[in-house]
Formats: sequence, structure tokens, C-alpha cells
Amino acid sequence: MPPVQSPPAAPSVLNDLRAGTHTLHVALEQRLPFFSDTLDLGFYTRLLSAYFGFYQALEDRLTHSAFIPSGFDLAARLKTPALVQDLRALGVDPHALPRCQHLPTVRSEAQALGVLYVLEGATLGGNVLRKRVAEHLGLDADNGGAFLFVYGEDTGQHWKAFIEFLGSVPLDATGRSEAAQAACSTFSCFEQWLDRQEVLL
Ligand code: HEM
Repeated sequence: MPPVQSPPAAPSVLNDLRAGTHTLHVALEQRLPFFSDTLDLGFYTRLLSAYFGFYQALEDRLTHSAFIPSGFDLAARLKTPALVQDLRALGVDPHALPRCQHLPTVRSEAQALGVLYVLEGATLGGNVLRKRVAEHLGLDADNGGAFLFVYGEDTGQHWKAFIEFLGSVPLDATGRSEAAQAACSTFSCFEQWLDRQEVLL
């Protein structure tokens, strides 16, 4: 009997998302000022205000989108409330802040998944960033550092659940490519917005 061979693993959308966005992640990470000597409370507050202008607008778009795959609990994963909490703690009225108008397109489930991949993945670096702002600026979840540790100790679990959900949505090659393009567009739109708000290095 010939040896039983397992079929080659199906190409996964996660691989496409990772491969497609890796360079953009590295580039943005290098330009974010979290580890810069110039980061003080004023700069951090401007940075978080700029984050709010993007996240609020994008999460609003997702909330009103007909393309969030069923079974995905978007409300439980919104990060704008944590940003609002932080900004209020830092003495900023979020309502007065500018919002990003140039957002990634969400006209299919695949595109929605690509955008969500970026927003969910961004929580993974949060633990490192949370420690940095705690040590450098004395911030924690109560006085301006909630967003950076939005899922707290559940970050890994939430990521695992998201990855499983991602894998459960059937996508053909076109869908996988759409998802990867939407993820790239999310990184690009975010970087351009942060640049325009003059909070990048
Ligand atoms: C200085 C800022 C940042 C740092 C230090 C950082 C760091 C990290 C780290 C340590 C991981 C986990 C890698 C792993 O476990 O394999 C990660 C993953 C990820 N980050 Fe960031 N990150 C930063 C900013 C961002 C931003 C602004 C975004 C998007 C808005 C983002 C999106 C992602 C995504 C999508 C992943 C998931 C990659 C995967 O598929 O495993 N990150 N980041």
C-alpha cells in the first residue's frame, strides 16, 4: 500500500493577509513615536487623538456595513470606547476632533475581513506599548492607557478566536485577494491619516 499522504494544506487567507501586509506593518511600526525620546504626555495625547479620528470613522463604517460576516460580534470588539475613555482622562473632548474621510472600502465580506484583520492584529503589539507608556508616562487603564491594552489579559484568546473565525468564512482566491488588498488599504489609509495629523516620526 502506498503511504497515506495528507492533502496539501489549503491556501489560507491568513497567509495572504500576513504576506500582503508585513512590509506595511514594519514601515508603520518604525514611524510610530511610542519608543521615541520625543514622546511626552502632550505628544501621546495628540497621537491618541489621531488614532481616534481613524478608529471612530472606520468602526462607524463597519457598524453600518451590511458585509460583516454573520457570527462576528463587532460590538464586543469596538475599540473607539476605550479611545474615548483615554481622551477624556487626558482632558480632550473627542467630539471636537477631526475624523478621517479617506477610509478603506468595505463592499464585500472579504474586504470587511481584511479590515478587521488589521484592527484585531493591532491589539497584539498593545502589551509592549502599554508597558512603554506605563513606564515612560505613568499611564494605565484609568488615566489614558486603556486603548493600548483594550482586551487586557484576553488579548491572546481574542486573537485566536478571530483567527478561527477568519478561517471559518469560505473565501475563494478572489475573496482572499480582496481581503489582502483591504488589509493593505487599511494600513495605508491609517499611515496617511497619521501623517496628515503630524504624529509620525
Ligand atoms: C509601535 C507600534 C507597534 C508594535 C510595537 C507592534 C507590534 C506587534 C507585535 C509584537 C505583533 C505580534 C507578532 C506575533 O505575535 O507574531 C504584532 C502583530 C500585528 N500587528 Fe502590530 N505593532 C505595532 C503597531 C501596529 C499597528 C498600528 C497596526 C495596525 C493598525 C498593527 C497591526 C498588526 C497586525 C495586523 C498584526 C497581526 C500579524 C499576524 O498576522 O500575526 N500593528 N504587532
